[in-house]
Amino acid sequence: STLGASAAERGGRYFGAAIAANKLSDSTYVTILNREFNSVTAENEMKWDATEPSRGSFNYTNGDRIANHAIGRGMKIRGHALLWHSQQPGWAQSLSGSTLRSAALNHVTQVATHYRGKIHSWDVVNEAFADGSGGGRRDSNLQRTGNDWIEAAFRAARAADPAAKLCYNDYNTDGINAKSTGIYNMVADFKARGVPIDCVGFQSHLSNSVPGDYQANLQRFANLGVDVQITELDISGSNQASVYASVVRSCLAVARCTGITVWGIRDSDSWRTGQNPLLFDSGGNKKAAYTSVLNALNEG
Ligand code: G3I
Repeated sequence: STLGASAAERGGRYFGAAIAANKLSDSTYVTILNREFNSVTAENEMKWDATEPSRGSFNYTNGDRIANHAIGRGMKIRGHALLWHSQQPGWAQSLSGSTLRSAALNHVTQVATHYRGKIHSWDVVNEAFADGSGGGRRDSNLQRTGNDWIEAAFRAARAADPAAKLCYNDYNTDGINAKSTGIYNMVADFKARGVPIDCVGFQSHLSNSVPGDYQANLQRFANLGVDVQITELDISGSNQASVYASVVRSCLAVARCTGITVWGIRDSDSWRTGQNPLLFDSGGNKKAAYTSVLNALNEG
């Protein structure tokens, strides 16, 4: 079997990969992509700096290359990411206050409208919570426009593409900790007040272990009435194969865990240079971690 086919047999889940438009001419890369995965995320091409390099002037060339590759092959698309404190175009970095707020919401509206009907799930807001023990928001130019910027973004995204599932996405949220609890409280508040949110993404950039309460953490979010997704999985270290299997089993054990995305295809494609955190080696060969994931998908 393949990752995508096996995930699909487990309650219609997807198994995806982050991909780069400039690698779609690499035949080894594309062969693996088309064989194994039934969902894609643009690693960089749908971000703010890529899609709106100057204010009000949009460039979808590379994002569309990825979207068209996926649509032509029946793959789902995770849209990543409408608003993020990082990878903002220079013009946005220098804005603040109501000017930034309206530019940001216009960005959400324009990009979500361009891709309307094509996106399975959008990361509407990425990485807006702070690390550490406070459980609060990260300071950023977006946060300084007012604490309601996140809900404003979700409302704009819903209006632009009513069919897309709208996700909040973050890292270091893999176990039950102050950061994940801060996000949990925000999601509970959004659900109570009718702010449109459908899913929470757990990036899951892991180093040789997974928190013992990983599944419990996914489940507590699911119990709020949102889907959960593993959105940027990569795992370094000597326990890699068994940690990958644990993550897959945790997702399968949570009914609302609808899919898993690995953050790249081959080790040589990873942002974690030298850590070899993916399922295929740099030559495109299946690693022990690949077999471990496939076996976990085929259990039960
Ligand atoms: O494309 C330009 C190239 O033209 C230029 O010459 C070169 C010089 O630095 O930079 C290239 O852009 C790089 C881009 O990746 C494409 O390769 C950026 O510098 C580099 O910063 C960017 O890194 C990306 C990173 O996000 C940016 O924060 C990684 O590829 C991408 O994997 C990573 O992904 C993030 C998720 O979006 C959010 N969660 C964490 C995850 C890992 O950091």
